[in-house]
Amino acid sequence: MTKPLLRVLAGEAVWPPPMWLMRQAGRYLPEYRALRSQAGDFISLCTTPALAAEVTLQPIRRYGFDAAILFSDILMLPWALGYGLAFKEGEGPVLPRLATAADVAALDPSRVATAITPILETVQRTKAGLDDDTTLIGFAGSPFTVACYMVEGGGSKDFARIRGMAHGQPELFGSLIDVLVDSTVEYVSAQINAGADVAMLFDSWAGVLSPLLFARYVTDPTRRIVDALRARHPGTPIIGFPRLAGVQVGAYAAATGVDGVALDTGAELHVATGLVPANVATQGNLDPLALVAGGAALEAEARGVLDAVRGRPHIFNLGHGIVPQTSPDHVAALVAQVRAA
Ligand code: CP3
Repeated sequence: MTKPLLRVLAGEAVWPPPMWLMRQAGRYLPEYRALRSQAGDFISLCTTPALAAEVTLQPIRRYGFDAAILFSDILMLPWALGYGLAFKEGEGPVLPRLATAADVAALDPSRVATAITPILETVQRTKAGLDDDTTLIGFAGSPFTVACYMVEGGGSKDFARIRGMAHGQPELFGSLIDVLVDSTVEYVSAQINAGADVAMLFDSWAGVLSPLLFARYVTDPTRRIVDALRARHPGTPIIGFPRLAGVQVGAYAAATGVDGVALDTGAELHVATGLVPANVATQGNLDPLALVAGGAALEAEARGVLDAVRGRPHIFNLGHGIVPQTSPDHVAALVAQVRAA
């Protein structure tokens, strides 16, 4: 096993830690903006394999990261289920608001295999463009976070609708989560068959739930997905990202059986790494805004992460995605610092 990222996910404390950055392909890169304007809308970009593969490879060429992450979006799964999705310029994703049992019944898992064909072709093309040391990460949203966008109709400040549904309409909400668990297994399994070396499950809004509902709608569905993927693809590691989970990361890591857990920016690393089982890799958690600031502030924050994770299996990353105003030069400085650790 040569790929450094896979060694870490097998429990080895590789030093310096391998690195990649969430949202490493995107608007902060001039070459992305140029290609994005050719592609038209964001969904067209995600479903045009030649362009999506090119965008996936752009940050690898520029920085030599240890992993490429498939260029797609967590909301391409509801899209594949036949659920309406649009990305409005400057507004983010807009979806219909799921509210009834009929809305859940209208989701059509039989469409998924055909709808995701271009995404799988992106995986194949990207894989062909990577060298042997670079890991290809496939991904999906976790059922709870995907459900957030479906129930809220897009982003939200307080997630009141979905929290209300989870508490007040458990049968309806449970049936939505069940559809998403099954289709996420099919979607991620297909990405692995197409060449993804690792699967990552993004649960960006996991931390808005009460601990009781976190166990029911974050940990349990993730465990079901991990169990099903393990049975089909025993050699493919899985990274979970229960963002804002706080002290629940330890129980999440132990109960779901993930190989790696991504930590958000607010996680105090000496505490969080003590909660996660020693053989489970950690990933994170530099503040994306330190990367915007650059200079001494960036250097100090990156050093803090490196000092805290030395000696344990860790993948250097941000605690959330790169923001568009980030200077590509600051990313280059960070790569140099981590590589020299
Ligand atoms: O480089 C990569 O990280 C790979 C591609 C990727 C995207 N989205 C591309 C994207 C990945 C892994 C995601 C995950 C994703 N998408 C998450 C989970 C991680 C997180 O950030 O919390 C979530 C919640 C989404 C949903 C989503 N997609 C939102 C809320 C938005 C709008 C906000 C924004 O940043 O514009 C998107 C759009 C999106 N997804 C863009 C990109 C590059 C911007 C689209 C553009 O170019 O206009």
